Amino acid sequence: MDFVGEKIANRLGGKNFDPSKKSYKFMKIKSAKAELKLKYPDAKIIDLGVGEPDIQADSKVVDVLCNEAGKIENRWYADNGIQEFKDAAAKYLKRVYGICNVDPNNEIMHGIGSKPILAMIPLCFINSGDVILTTVPGYPVIANHTRYLGGEVYNLPLYKENNYYPDFSNIPDDILKRAKLLYINYPNNPTGQVATREFYEEVIDFAKRNDIFVISDASYSALTFDDYKPLSFLSVDGAKEVGAEVYSLSKAFNMTGWRLAFIVGNKRFIDLYADVKSTIDSGQFIAIQKAGICALNNVDITHNNCERYSRRHDLLVCALREVGFDVTKPKATFYCYAPIPKGTKCGKIFTNAEDASSYILENAFISTVPWDDAGAFLRFSVTFEAKDYEEEKKIVDEVKERLLKLELVF
Ligand SMILES: Cc1ncc(COP(=O)(O)O)c(C=O)c1O
Repeated sequence: MDFVGEKIANRLGGKNFDPSKKSYKFMKIKSAKAELKLKYPDAKIIDLGVGEPDIQADSKVVDVLCNEAGKIENRWYADNGIQEFKDAAAKYLKRVYGICNVDPNNEIMHGIGSKPILAMIPLCFINSGDVILTTVPGYPVIANHTRYLGGEVYNLPLYKENNYYPDFSNIPDDILKRAKLLYINYPNNPTGQVATREFYEEVIDFAKRNDIFVISDASYSALTFDDYKPLSFLSVDGAKEVGAEVYSLSKAFNMTGWRLAFIVGNKRFIDLYADVKSTIDSGQFIAIQKAGICALNNVDITHNNCERYSRRHDLLVCALREVGFDVTKPKATFYCYAPIPKGTKCGKIFTNAEDASSYILENAFISTVPWDDAGAFLRFSVTFEAKDYEEEKKIVDEVKERLLKLELVF
C-alpha cells in the first residue's frame, strides 16, 4: 500500500501526484539545467533563464544584518513585523513613487517575500466557486492558491497586439459576477511591459464598476530605464479604495534569498491579511527587517541595478536582433520577451515555446524561459553572471555566436 499516496489531496492530483511533474515551472527549468549539467559536465551553460540578480546585497545592507543578527533584543518571533520597517517602507513609497497618503501604522505589513504574501491573499477572499482574474503569462502563485481553495481562475491573456495589457471588455458576465480579485503585475514579468497612468485609471474604473479587489504586484516597479520613471498603482487616485500593492526587496535590492517584502493597502484589507499571516508565519527575522530598512533608505542601490540592466539590455537586444529575433528593449525589469523562431534551417519546426526553449538549451547550452500562454515567446533575462562591461559583452557575443550556429528561421 502507498501509505502516503492514498491520502494526498485532490488538488495535488491525489494518489496520482507525481513529484517528477513539478507544479512550479521554475523548479522544472532548474531540473532541466541540472540534468544537462550531469550529461555534459564540461558544458558552460549561459543562464538567461531564472530571474534573480547576479550580484549580492549591498555591503551596507550586509553590515547591518551582521550587526543586528547578534543583538539579543532581535531574537524574538517578529510576528507581524517591527514598526521601524513599516515607517521606512512608507518613506520609501513617498521618495520613489510620490505616494504621500499611506499610514505606516495601519496600512503596511511586511511579508517573507512577495511570494508568500501573494499565496496568502486567496485565503483572505476565496470561497469555493469564487473567481479571480489574472493576467497570463505571469507569476502563477495567486492563481495556484485560488485553485487550492476551490476557486476558479479566469485568465486575461497579454497579447502583443494589445501591447501586453489585459482586455477587460470580453470577460463574460457570469465570470464578472463571481470575480472577487484581479491580479496585475507591471512592470510585467515576463513581457517587460510597463503601466501607464491611463492604464491604472482604467483598472480602478473596472474594479469599481465590477466590485473587484485589485492586487498590483509591484515586484519590479523600481527597475526602470531610459525615460520611464517608476509608477505605482497606489499613486493613482482611487487605487487605495479598491486595491493593494505588493513591493519586494528581492529584485530592486538584490535580496532574493533574504525574503523580505511588504504589502500596502487600506486598513481593512491589511487587518485581514495580518490576521491570516499571523496563523501562517511568525514574521521575518528582525535583523533582516533592519537590514531591509537600510536598503529602503539607500535607493542608489536600485539606481545602480537599473544602470547595469539597461546596459545589458542594450547589448542583448542588439545581439538577438542580429540573430533574427523580433525584440525591443523593455522600459523596465530584467526581461527581454521575444516571439519564438519558427524552427531551424535544417528542418526542425518548433511546436511551441517549450519546444524552442528546450532545443536552445540542449543545442546551444543557453537557458531561457518559455511562455505559451498568449502566443509562443521566450524570456531572456539579463541577470547572467558578469562582473563588468567587458564580461557582459563577452557573454552576449557568445550568446549571439551560439544562436547563429543554430541557424534559426523566423
Ligand atoms: C512577478 C513576480 N512577483 C513576485 C515574485 C516573488 O518575489 P519574492 O517572493 O522574491 O518577493 C516574483 C519572482 O520572480 C515575480 O517575478
